[in-house]
Amino acid sequence: MSNNRSVKSISIETAMSWDTAPFNLYIQLPDSRFLALFRTGNPIDKPRLQKYAAKGVTTLWSSEQELSDAISAELGSASSGGADPRLEMLTKLSVAVFDQLTRLGISEESFNHAKAVGKVVRNVLEKDPKLSDAFLKFQTMQPDQVRHSLMVSALATILANGMEWIKPSTIENIGLGALLHDIGKLTLPAEILNTDPGMLSPTDRKILEGHCEAGRSILSGLKTVPEEVYMIVAHHHERADGSGYPQGLKDIYIHPLARVVAIANEIVDRYERDQKAGRQASIKALVEATLAASASRFNRDVVKALQKMLATEKF
Ligand SMILES: [Fe+2]
Ligand SMILES: [Fe+2]
Repeated sequence: MSNNRSVKSISIETAMSWDTAPFNLYIQLPDSRFLALFRTGNPIDKPRLQKYAAKGVTTLWSSEQELSDAISAELGSASSGGADPRLEMLTKLSVAVFDQLTRLGISEESFNHAKAVGKVVRNVLEKDPKLSDAFLKFQTMQPDQVRHSLMVSALATILANGMEWIKPSTIENIGLGALLHDIGKLTLPAEILNTDPGMLSPTDRKILEGHCEAGRSILSGLKTVPEEVYMIVAHHHERADGSGYPQGLKDIYIHPLARVVAIANEIVDRYERDQKAGRQASIKALVEATLAASASRFNRDVVKALQKMLATEKF
């Protein structure tokens, strides 16, 4: 690693929670050079890390470029005919999102799980030209939204895993529905999209709330998109206590997969607000804060699964 600008820190505790290195991990020497401690895929030697920690080392380093190459190679090889250049931006954004997730202290198991689902979801997008066109339009017009959607998708699939849902098609549909949850925003005027929702007039607020139905209608018109996926899109802002929109549905009427995506969306929104305010909480702290603020607005089983995941270090 030669360039200081392209290195990112990672706490030694996070590295300690991994069994294998998800990417090359370096230690910074007193003369500021970087020494490779663990190579990608190699086991993490915990006693060795503990020795460094005892000497006062709190941080390890990774190379942004190496991480990006590793994830691009993995996502690119997902399709038999090689990477689709039109989805290059999605790959790049995925790299950024997985990078953020590791820095939030996510567990190795969850990281690998989300990565595997990401790969499948990308394949689904690639196979349906109409779907990938809609997604391309979305990522070109609203790249920030795509970063947000990728993070919701990763978190929702991790949560589905925590719910002990094991049917692969369910997990894939959650991943895809979460990735596309805000695709209806394509139909919104820029001035509404760029305004803080709290500052919108009641009329504009209604227009914003229309993105759920707009998204459903874009996707339900595509033959390859399963009903579960567009129901996630239609219901992702509904809340169990009926306080959501557009229909104010109560819990039992909300699609089961949308209940999971709804809370993942809320956790990511909290993360983004924190980032804007210059704060960086761990994934655990974000989940705890979301539950403390609004557990009653979400499905009880989903809340219980999150609590269990917190208790068993699933993040
Ligand atoms: Fe939304
Ligand atoms: Fe969202």
